[in-house]
Amino acid sequence: MSISATLQRVEQYYDIAPRSDSRVEEIGSLTLFIGTGPWAYYARPRLGIDMVQAEDVERACARMHELNLPQAFEWMAESTPSMRAAASRSGLSIVDGPLLVVADPVDVMLPGGVRLFLVGADDPKLGDYLHLAARAFSETATNEAPGEPGPESSDAAVAHLRTRLADGRTVLMAAMAQNRLLAVGSHHPVVVGDEVVTEIVGVATLPDYRGRGLGAAITAALVSDARQECSLVFLSAGDDDSARVYERVGFAQIGTACLASS
Ligand SMILES: CC(C)(COP(=O)(O)OP(=O)(O)OC[C@H]1O[C@@H](n2cnc3c(N)ncnc32)[C@H](O)[C@@H]1OP(=O)(O)O)[C@@H](O)C(=O)NCCC(=O)NCCS
Repeated sequence: MSISATLQRVEQYYDIAPRSDSRVEEIGSLTLFIGTGPWAYYARPRLGIDMVQAEDVERACARMHELNLPQAFEWMAESTPSMRAAASRSGLSIVDGPLLVVADPVDVMLPGGVRLFLVGADDPKLGDYLHLAARAFSETATNEAPGEPGPESSDAAVAHLRTRLADGRTVLMAAMAQNRLLAVGSHHPVVVGDEVVTEIVGVATLPDYRGRGLGAAITAALVSDARQECSLVFLSAGDDDSARVYERVGFAQIGTACLASS
């Protein structure tokens, strides 16, 4: 499949994935996803639109302000190049990150003494997994903020995760050694047309345990799980350093994911 056809499927995924957790408002050339649970979302260019005007970005910002939502926009540089100028004319800061797809999955050796497992919806310690991810991400400004739980593992966030695990919208993988939780990561499968596409998100290792291959091992295990039903597995890396972890387990960059915020 060509890169542009793959990017098109990723665009479709991004248009569908938030809808199970949000209501939607169309604002000119933009779609605003308003989270109905604890996850905050963003606005993106409407599917199929290539010209985004700064006025639409400003209207969306005003609406986000009115709704007390963070001002956040996401898009792919290759699909909607006009969005960059519209976002910067509106005074937003823009961060780019590599968008990667699984090209050639690689088996990864698990660090000694580490056990990887899929977390079930009935796991009594769901708050611990959210807490680990919040801790790992709190020291990193990444390209992956919206659509993810906030820093608090509140009862609402735990209940939300439990529901998503139970109905298969989230698959959560964890790494543990000597009864200590060290790393987590998830993927979010979505039906796109007649296939299933998934995005890997929230790969996080506790700071003291980084550089031992846990991030790579969690990612490889998520890929292996995802490929049982998904024809396309992709992710957006926060920066080039994170992208290297993913490239080592068989991902290849096909585009640029952009995030704008105030
Ligand atoms: C990104 C992140 C998940 C990586 O986790 P990690 O467990 O350190 O990942 P790995 O150990 O597999 O790889 C990290 C580095 O350690 C090196 N490494 C891997 N195995 C190693 C080993 N056994 N011994 C020494 N170094 C090793 C890798 O080569 C890699 O180095 P490189 O970046 O120069 O290529 C982690 O830094 C993190 O949690 N960051 C905050 C959250 C975040 O930004 N997540 C990513 C969002 S896209």
